[in-house]
Amino acid sequence: MSGYRLTTVETVRERGSWAFTAREGDADREVLLVPCADEPDEEGASPDQPVRAWINRCTHEDQRLHREGVGAVTRGGSVVCPKHGSAFDACEGSCDNGEAAGTTLRSVDVTVRDGAVFLTDGDLNYLREGLPDEDGGDGDEGPSSSSHLTF
Ligand code: FES
Repeated sequence: MSGYRLTTVETVRERGSWAFTAREGDADREVLLVPCADEPDEEGASPDQPVRAWINRCTHEDQRLHREGVGAVTRGGSVVCPKHGSAFDACEGSCDNGEAAGTTLRSVDVTVRDGAVFLTDGDLNYLREGLPDEDGGDGDEGPSSSSHLTF
């Protein structure tokens, strides 16, 4: 079994989430990697699959769970939607609360070998690390206006 080497389990755990862009047919897909176990060092808490991969869209509305420069909000083994706060189980993708209750994130197949995470989903081809620009650009409001001094 092969697959594209994405990153390491350690990196996903350190950052809390890790995102990449893949190709499915003629569409780009955003994928989010999250640790499945909260406390991987705890005895018995290291599952066969310590990292899970999900399509990076809330099931309620078209909202990214992982955002560039911010990452994903993860809490108590869940990924929390930044828009309305529904929490998805990081291991199962399921949600039992808030606006997205009763739905499940679309899963992406990844495999862990020797501490590295590989994309093994036959529907997706890896394109690049990170996510595409959300809306072509005016969302990045830097500090430039406030640093522009006049005399
Ligand atoms: S968009 Fe995620 S809960 Fe509403």
